[in-house]
Amino acid sequence: MILFTRKQRLFLFSFAVFYFFLFIVSRFRSARDPGSYFFRPEEGYRPQYSLQRIDESLEYLRPYNQSFNDPAHPPRNFTAASDDATICVGIVTVKRPLRQNIDITVASILDNLSEQERSTISVHVLFALTSPADHPDYTQPWLPNVVDRVLTYDQLDAPIAVLRRLEEKKDVKRKSIIDYYLSLKSCYEDSNAPWIMMLEDDVVAQRAWYNRTLQSLENIQSWRRSGAIKNWLYVRLFYTEKFLGWNSEDWPVYAACSIGIVTMVAVVGFMGRRSLRPTQGLLTNTFIATVCLVCMPLLIVLYFLAGRVTMLPMRQGIHLMNSHGCCSQALVFPRENVPLLLNKMDEARYEHPYAVDSVIERLADATDLDRLVIVPSQMQHVGAASYKENRDRYDLQGPHQVQGAHGVWSMGFEKAFEE
Ligand SMILES: *[C@@H]1O[C@H](CO)[C@@H](O)[C@H](O)[C@H]1NC(C)=O
Repeated sequence: MILFTRKQRLFLFSFAVFYFFLFIVSRFRSARDPGSYFFRPEEGYRPQYSLQRIDESLEYLRPYNQSFNDPAHPPRNFTAASDDATICVGIVTVKRPLRQNIDITVASILDNLSEQERSTISVHVLFALTSPADHPDYTQPWLPNVVDRVLTYDQLDAPIAVLRRLEEKKDVKRKSIIDYYLSLKSCYEDSNAPWIMMLEDDVVAQRAWYNRTLQSLENIQSWRRSGAIKNWLYVRLFYTEKFLGWNSEDWPVYAACSIGIVTMVAVVGFMGRRSLRPTQGLLTNTFIATVCLVCMPLLIVLYFLAGRVTMLPMRQGIHLMNSHGCCSQALVFPRENVPLLLNKMDEARYEHPYAVDSVIERLADATDLDRLVIVPSQMQHVGAASYKENRDRYDLQGPHQVQGAHGVWSMGFEKAFEE
């Protein structure tokens, strides 16, 4: 018994070739997608644009990095008025196991700004150690020349005894919440900035972050005024694609779409056979069944294996991200909702210790505030080592020890320079 005619065999053979080709293409296209079967860490976590930004930032910092009085780079610390800043940047810095990145973080948000743009930003850096001099950057010459407020616990009326105890116990979660609280509060009380941007001390910014972010904030504000969007807690400038893959809770949607597509192909097959005489020889029942039950499922499986971020990428611009938005590396809060967060943080340290990002997410859930994101990431996480872990050895090579930063990593950021 011959199952297929020559034409049908030719079609199936062509399909096999085509499928093989698609498979190879997917392997390349999805290599950087952490949600894909084809993900290869050495591709996906390879830093490109971020290395360039690190070099540029350190280059920018060099002329400021001198202690003698240089009229071309006068000290900023506590001199410039920060009352009329548009964005107050709060950064908490702690001592990290490998290298410190606070210089890169600060420099990368400033190195492409005009003088006028620089005057709209007030940078507050909190050295979150009970003895700040233990932080390698605390005594570096660039610091007072670049940062508007170099802060320590002493200046902030912080609960020193509590902090010292948490430091001794290495209770990072509770301490981080207090530190975040103090930094956020310093921006809130020491400036009138309508936007408060909280950064971790191991991020690097895109060259164009300033204009993109301000433009996005303006858009968000005008949507808010016209009632197009709900009240919101923050807009996220860093996200990792790692948690944006296919969601298991959406399986009914995926199943329905897959069945719908297979059904559609079957219907087209039967209708084609009826209305187009020449196809009658080709579109036999066996053949349609083979296409629908073998070829189509193979294509659908490949589609899912290729990964969601690859197959359904988010368009550039502002999106809602009320879930799966990971990590608190870079968030911008509108001033009016900051008191809410300050209250929450103040309470949170007495409660079950959640990480800072969980505290923020829980507040947003409890108050029904939206969370927004700018696509692509305006910041990258370059911290090679987290202070949260107690590893004694790191196998990192190369001039910049970035390499994917624990998977808390934005692929979109690395591709930004291709634009
Ligand atoms: C600044 O200068 C100090 C030495 O005075 C050096 O150790 C440090 O690496 C420099 N930092 C930057 C960011 O260039």
